[in-house]
Amino acid sequence: MDSIVVKGGTPLNGQIQIAGAKNTSLKLITAAILTDEPLTLTNVPRLADIRTISDVMTSLGVEIAQLEGGRVMVMSAANLTSHKAEYDLVRKLRASFQVLGPLLARTGEAVVSLPGGCAIGARPVDIHLEALEKLGATVELRDGYVHAAAPNGLKGCEIEFRFASVGATENAMAAATLAKGTTVIKNAAREPDTVALADCLNAMGAQIEGAGTDTLTITGVDRLHGATQEVLTDRIEMGTFMVAPMIAGGSVELLGGRLDLIPCFADKMVAAGAIIEETPLGLKVTKGDGPILPVDAKTEPFPGFPTDLQAQFMAMMCLSNGTSVLEETIFENRFMHAPELLRMGANVEVQGGMAKVHGVGQMKGAQVMATDLRASVSLILAGLAAEGETIVSRVYHLDRGYERVEEKLRAVGAQIERVSA
Ligand code: UD1
Repeated sequence: MDSIVVKGGTPLNGQIQIAGAKNTSLKLITAAILTDEPLTLTNVPRLADIRTISDVMTSLGVEIAQLEGGRVMVMSAANLTSHKAEYDLVRKLRASFQVLGPLLARTGEAVVSLPGGCAIGARPVDIHLEALEKLGATVELRDGYVHAAAPNGLKGCEIEFRFASVGATENAMAAATLAKGTTVIKNAAREPDTVALADCLNAMGAQIEGAGTDTLTITGVDRLHGATQEVLTDRIEMGTFMVAPMIAGGSVELLGGRLDLIPCFADKMVAAGAIIEETPLGLKVTKGDGPILPVDAKTEPFPGFPTDLQAQFMAMMCLSNGTSVLEETIFENRFMHAPELLRMGANVEVQGGMAKVHGVGQMKGAQVMATDLRASVSLILAGLAAEGETIVSRVYHLDRGYERVEEKLRAVGAQIERVSA
C-alpha cells in the first residue's frame, strides 16, 4: 500500500493546475443513463472514483469511450442491459447511488444497493427515497437493495426537502426531467455541482429553471438527447491548494481557480491572513507577512463553508496564533483527522460537532493514517510545515479525489514523494 512522505519547511512558489470537479463529474456521468444518444464530457479528472462510477455504468450496459487519457468521456446508454447497481460497486463509492433517479426515469425500474454508512457518518438516503415516492414511484427495501418502480412513468409533483441534501436534489432533479408535468423542488441544494448537473441536463433537452436558488422548477419532457459538457473546476481541490501556501509559506497561482465557487471559504482565508488576487489565469494565493490568525468556521450547505474543506482549514488553524472554533453541521463524525493532527503536536479539543483548535507555533512530523479523502489531504498539508518527516499511510483515500497531489505540490517546491510498500 502506498504512503506519502512529506518533509516540512519549504515555501511553495509557482502554479498548480486545478482539475475538473470530481463530484460534478460523478453526477454528469450518471446523467448519460437518461438518453439513448451519446453524452460527451470534457475536463474529467483522472481519479479512482471516476473509474468506479464508470464500472457501475458499464455494469448497466452503458458503453464508455475514454479519449485524451481519460480527460474526455463519451458515453452511450443506447442499449441498457441491466437496471441493477450491485452492492460490490455501490459500497466502494456512495455516489453510485446517483444512478437511481436516472435509471428509474429512463426504464421505469431501478434496483440499487443501499450504500451503507461511511467513516464520516451514517449518511442515510431517506430524503432521496421520499422524493422518488412523491414522483410516483413505489419504493421497497429488500435484501439491502432499493427496489424502485414506476411502470407508467413518473409524475410531476411538489417536493419540499427538510434538509437541502445535495445527492437527493440531484437524484430527484434528474428523475423529474422525464416525468409527466411539472416538478417543483423546494429547499433544494444550491451547490455548484448541482447547478452544473442542471446545466448538463438542460443541454440534453431538459427544462430546469432555478438552479443555484433553493427552488427548482422542472418541466418534464418526453426524451433527452445527447450533448457535450465541460466539467467545471474542482472547488475542493482549489480550496485545498489555497491552504498549502498559507501553511508552508510562499505564493501559488491556481490555474482555473474561481472565487465564486467558494465565497465563504475565501473570506475565511482572507481573515486568516491570506492575500488572494484574481489573475487572468485563475487565482493567486500568497501568505501575508504576519502570523496565521485564528478564524472560527461553521460548515453549512452552499454558499456556506464547505464541509469538504473543514479538515484542511483545521490543519491551517493548528498553526494560528490563537484559538479558533470549528463547527461541523453536515456530517456527524467528521473530525477523525483531529487525533492524527494531535500526533503531529497539534492541540485540538473535539466535543461533539465542535472542535476547539489552539494554535501551536510548530508541528512535528509523525506517522499518521488517513481515514477519509479530505482528512488524508489535511495531514499532507500539515506535513508541509512540520519539522521533520510526516508519513501518511492509507493514501488510497487520497487517490479517490486528488489527481497526482504529490506531483502538483512537488512542482511548486514541496519535498514530497509517494512510496510504495
Ligand atoms: C455530497 C458530496 C460530498 C459533500 C456533501 C455535502 C458528492 C459525491 N458528495 O454528498 O462530498 O461533503 O455533498 O456538501 O457530491 N442526509 C440524510 N438523508 C438523505 C440524504 C442526506 O439524512 O437522504 C444527510 C446526510 O447523512 C448528511 C447530510 O444530509 O449528514 C448531507 O448529505 P448530502 O447533502 O446528501 O451529501 P451527499 O450528497 O451525500
